[in-house]
Amino acid sequence: MVNDYWKSEDYALHARYVSQLSEEVMRDLAPQRGEQILDLGCGDGVLAEVLMGLGCDVVGIDSSASLVEAARGRGVEVRLGDAQAIEDDAAFDAIFSNAALHWMLEQTALSQRVFRALKPGGRFVAEMGGTGNIAQIRAAMTGALAEIGIAFADRNPWTFPTPEEHRALLEKIGFRVTKCALRDRPTLLPTDVHGWFATFSQGILSDLDLDRREAVIDRMVELCRPELCDAAGKWTVDYVRLNFVAEKPALSEI
Ligand code: BEZ
Repeated sequence: MVNDYWKSEDYALHARYVSQLSEEVMRDLAPQRGEQILDLGCGDGVLAEVLMGLGCDVVGIDSSASLVEAARGRGVEVRLGDAQAIEDDAAFDAIFSNAALHWMLEQTALSQRVFRALKPGGRFVAEMGGTGNIAQIRAAMTGALAEIGIAFADRNPWTFPTPEEHRALLEKIGFRVTKCALRDRPTLLPTDVHGWFATFSQGILSDLDLDRREAVIDRMVELCRPELCDAAGKWTVDYVRLNFVAEKPALSEI
């Protein structure tokens, strides 16, 4: 499935921190020169470009045509398509993902495909939203949509697992999980929460005409202002990160 809800310019303006705040997942990945790495949900390719600069052989996959175009503009080899449908077999030393897995609702099927796509001894290293992620944002969405008769739960595009459930899911598939940890990461926005909603809620609001969409976003902004906006007008979003490292056993271990 390919989507056109994302706009790379909006992403660069309102959400550049997504790649800037990637030290932990990049440290966990510990990329080595010459490794073949798949970047799942590579977005506009900023981190794939960093990995290429470290001498890795990188391919990205993303379902947004706009973000894929931006990534290709950076020289990244990218597949346009659904990361949940990868069909590679023992092709990668590492499969990496930053801030993308929570958009993929079929986590078991996805992780099974990742397992198959890794070489024996390969690793799946990711950062995604974890339980409690963007709770105030979701409360504002729920409230604003309820006012116009829409249930947010019916169109919630995200999954934010607990570390316990995600570890169990990965272990059941056969991964050895060496890390699966949750942390709060309140994040000061470079612009404001209107920009956040405009960037990330287009899919949820796609059936509304543009005027209605704008009115709903304005209402979401007002509903989360008391919790997320300080006296100086600065917005901080209540991100919660789940970081994990999961290894596919080497042939000698099977
Ligand atoms: C996240 O990175 O946690 C996230 C970003 C946009 C929408 C939802 C979650």
